[in-house]
Formats: sequence, structure tokens, C-alpha cells
Amino acid sequence: MALVLGVDSSTQSTKALLVDADTGRVVATGRAPHPAGTEVDPRAWLTAVDDAAGDLLPRAAAVAVGGQQHGMVALDQHGSVVRDALLWNDTRSAAQAQTLVAEMGGPEACVAEIGYVLVASMTSTKLRWMAEQEPENAARTASVLLPHDYVSRHLCRDGAAFTDRGDASGTGYYSTRTEAWNESLVELAIGHPLALPEVAPSPHAVMGHTAEGAVFAPGTGDNMAAALGLSLEPGDVSVSIGTSGVAAMVSDVRPADPSGTVTGFADATGRFLPMATTMNAARVLDFGCRMLGVNYDGLSDLALASRPGAGGVVLLPYLDGERTPNRPGATGVFSGLTSETTRADIARACVEGLLASLADAVGAVEQVAGRDAQRILLIGGGAMSEAVRLLAPTVFGRPVVVPLAGEYVALGAARQAAWALSGADEPPVWAIGDPTEIDAPHAPHIMETYRLLKSRTADW
Ligand code: XUL
Repeated sequence: MALVLGVDSSTQSTKALLVDADTGRVVATGRAPHPAGTEVDPRAWLTAVDDAAGDLLPRAAAVAVGGQQHGMVALDQHGSVVRDALLWNDTRSAAQAQTLVAEMGGPEACVAEIGYVLVASMTSTKLRWMAEQEPENAARTASVLLPHDYVSRHLCRDGAAFTDRGDASGTGYYSTRTEAWNESLVELAIGHPLALPEVAPSPHAVMGHTAEGAVFAPGTGDNMAAALGLSLEPGDVSVSIGTSGVAAMVSDVRPADPSGTVTGFADATGRFLPMATTMNAARVLDFGCRMLGVNYDGLSDLALASRPGAGGVVLLPYLDGERTPNRPGATGVFSGLTSETTRADIARACVEGLLASLADAVGAVEQVAGRDAQRILLIGGGAMSEAVRLLAPTVFGRPVVVPLAGEYVALGAARQAAWALSGADEPPVWAIGDPTEIDAPHAPHIMETYRLLKSRTADW
């Protein structure tokens, strides 16, 4: 039995799964935490992957890494780290994003070349921020990698850096029009040319080998890896509730949204992954827990004890700035509080506010893809909350499907590794177990009051 290793180097931790290449059955796991913050020494991810996967690596015949998208790992000419990596959820480059969009010829031109309108999350905006605010660091920067490229290079004996079109498409300097780096855009961002990693020639190319001789697959961004782990088909929408909230649909058509809400990334199979991403997802539940002095289960019990509409309480959950809608400086807003408001109403408003922001993300992706979701799959740590699962159909107005709990990013990376190992044209077919379908009566007033508050606070 050949075993493959899938690694998820995500915002909060590294997770590793050793998986049977034929069936997708998980035979061993590892995990190690990452430092908190939106600015992190990327060498901490190398320590974490050694801790989480060090014992598993020698048992694997193939390896792939999925990683948080967009992070800027700036390296000097010797390959040493220039400064801490700026992560996808660091909003300091919001102004630089606007400037770069204008310099690229406006939103339409931006979409035509890279597939979306730049916001602060994208790597190129961070490079521009560094060029403006830290010119000495920018001058020392000779190459830039994404988190998954940086971790792959560490585990690979060959030493050369590589990436895939999925993660590359989140940089702001990969063209989904030509399917190649647009080197003039990286130069526009930082002011001089940079060495960029080789983009895998196919989704299942062998890009190198580990010290033990295992095959190294290209890896990809965490959202692309999750789509692969879930075996999403065109028309399926996954709604992931992790550090970020993501609605993503696999599409055969190159998406285009000049409004900037939907990012038309490439996926890890040769197709596209139109996505809408929120910056406040599981943390909205964490916030509710902290405010009410309860754990996840306690918050869920409280939320389920209130009524649809939370007794009139509405939460706009844009706690630490938001990307969908694009309000990088936003803070959260509660409305509808009265002397009758209960703790249960507050808990319910947290869950409903989170789900309403995700429902908007799903709607935006459907609109750009030009089709309704045929299934909505709920995944990520936040989907472990019973209240989130049971109230999702009430807010979304349609049933949701909850796959068995699992590490779908690491599983998707493992599936890519198995694909590279097999050399076949298609990825292996893995059964992920029967998902549960959940339905409940629709309460349209939840979205109506949420959207009203959202529009009233647009210029706050
Ligand atoms: C997607 C995004 C986030 C990160 C989180 O564009 O910024 O989902 O990939 O890891």
C-alpha cells in the first residue's frame, strides 16, 4: 500500500495527514501551532511542518503542501528571509491596492489580466506597501514566495522553488489570461524585477523529491486544496468557516467580476475557482463565546434558544476590517438592542450575522458564475457548531450538505500527491463518506435586516 502525505500550512497551524493513496483513508495525523498575528516570521512554519510531519514524511511515497493564500515571503539573494511575512488578513496595504488597480488601468483591466480586482490581501499590494514604507527591505528583496512554496522548498531536497497556477493566481502578478507570470506586474509592485518560482506545467507534475526520494507534487493554495479534497464538481459551492470565510465554486469558465467581490482564481485541476472571501468567520463565534463567557457548545445552545431574527438584534460581523464587503477599516456593529434583549439573542445574532455574511458571499459567486449552486457544502472549524449547521438553511433559504468532519485542505494536498504519484490524467477517486443534508424553514427577514444595516453603514 503506497502512502501519501498531505500538508495544510494554514493561518493558525500546520496539519499533516498520511493517507492511503488508493482509497484516501487517513492512517496517521500530525499537528503543530503557528504564531498568532497577521505578520509572522515564515521560518515558524518550517518548524511547525517539521513537528507536524517529520515522523510521517519518511513513510510517504509522495508529498504535497496546501497553504494559506497570498502571504508575502520576501527573500534576499541568498534565499534568507528579509522581513516577517505579511499574511492574507493583513489590511495595511488597502491604499496600495487601490493605487495598483488604477496603475493597471482600472478594475476591468485588472480582471482581464489577473482574474479579479486587487484588494489588500493580494501579495502584489504587500510588495508595494514594502516598497513605499520599507525601501531598504524592498531593495534587498530578490525573490518572493507564497507560504506553500516556501514550505515545499524546505521539504524538497532539490532546493528550487516551485508553485502551481492555483496559488500563483492569488498573487496579483499571475495572468489567468496567458496562464503565466506577468513579470511586469511584479516589477510594477516593488519597483524592480524579482525571481519567481517555477509554475507547475500540469496540476499533477512531479516538481522534485524529498531527501528520502518521495515524489513532490506542486501543492496549491488552501482553498484550491479544499476543493480537491472535497472532490467538488462544477456547480458545487463549498462554504468554509475557518479563520476566513470562503464561498467557492468550481467553474469551467474563467470568471470576471469587475465589482471586486468575486476573485476569479485558478483551481488545482486546470479549471477555475471563483471565490468570495470574508475576513471574519470562526472568529465571530470566538467573539460571541468571549462576550458571553461560554464555549462553542454553550454559544450554540444559547443561539438555538432564541428565535429567527434574534429578537431584532442584528450583528454586522466586520470585527477586524472586512474584505467582502471591501471595508478594510470596518469594525463590528450591533443594532436592535433593547432592555428585553437576552444573552440568547446576542448568541443568535452572532451566528446569524456570520451566516448572513456567508450567504452574501454565496450569492455573489453564483451571480458571477451565472448559475445557482447545485449543492452547498459546509466545512471548516465553524461548521462544527450545531447552531451554525442547523441555522444555515434558515438564513441561506436552501438545504446545506455537511460532509464528515475532516481536514479537507490536507486531504486535497494528499490527493494531489497521489495524483502525481500515479501519473494518471485524472486524480484518484476517493470516497469521503456520506454527507448529512440539513434543511429548515427559510426566514427571509434575517437577510433583509442584515442587508439594510450593511447599506446604512456603508460610509461609516
Ligand atoms: C482567500 C484568502 C483566505 C486564505 C486563508 O483569498 O485570503 O481564504 O487563503 O487561508
